[in-house]
Amino acid sequence: MNSRIGITTAKRTSERQLEVVKGLIKQFNLPFFARNKNSINSIIEKHKLDYLFVVENTKLYLSDGANKLFWHPNTAILKLKENNAGPLVRALDLKRGDHVLDCTLGLGADALLIANAIGENGKVTALEANPYIAYLTERGINTSDFQIIKQLATRIDIINLSYQDYLKNTQKNIDGQKARRR
Ligand SMILES: C[S@@+](CC[C@H](N)C(=O)[O-])C[C@H]1O[C@@H](n2cnc3c(N)ncnc32)[C@H](O)[C@@H]1O
Repeated sequence: MNSRIGITTAKRTSERQLEVVKGLIKQFNLPFFARNKNSINSIIEKHKLDYLFVVENTKLYLSDGANKLFWHPNTAILKLKENNAGPLVRALDLKRGDHVLDCTLGLGADALLIANAIGENGKVTALEANPYIAYLTERGINTSDFQIIKQLATRIDIINLSYQDYLKNTQKNIDGQKARRR
């Protein structure tokens, strides 16, 4: 991944934002640009960035100047509240206690619905090749305002790896049980 990425805060910077900035620098070793009164676009242009992480008090997103990528639960929150498993979970015919491998986590809507279906003794191992999406989703589900999402996050292990690399180095049977194939 060769994108040039930086980090900034909201115009009114707080201690809380700087804590998140420190975590991002530790994780990704990205440059920090003091926001001062500058616009997101002007920081992106001045430093020739592809993307800028913007840390606000209650939001964290990646901006390319025109679009924002931030974690959100998508329709998973509606399905969880309505106890509607959705077509993927129904098709998987999951049992409580199952260990499921989600090869493409994205923002984690499927992983959350799967985590709900497999119960508190189940586990989702979720792979995401893009480190920034993996970070946004891990942070998003673990700090969500929705209690149910925070609870389900404890059943989801996120690994920043492509499924090709993961599968190459993983026994066929991830749990020592017969893998169910469909
Ligand atoms: C369409 S999204 C997945 C949506 C997700 N299932 C959900 O419920 O939100 C596809 C995701 O897979 C990731 N991805 C693409 N190729 C991958 C690979 N080879 N290994 C792991 N993740 C991959 C992309 O970065 C992207 O975040």
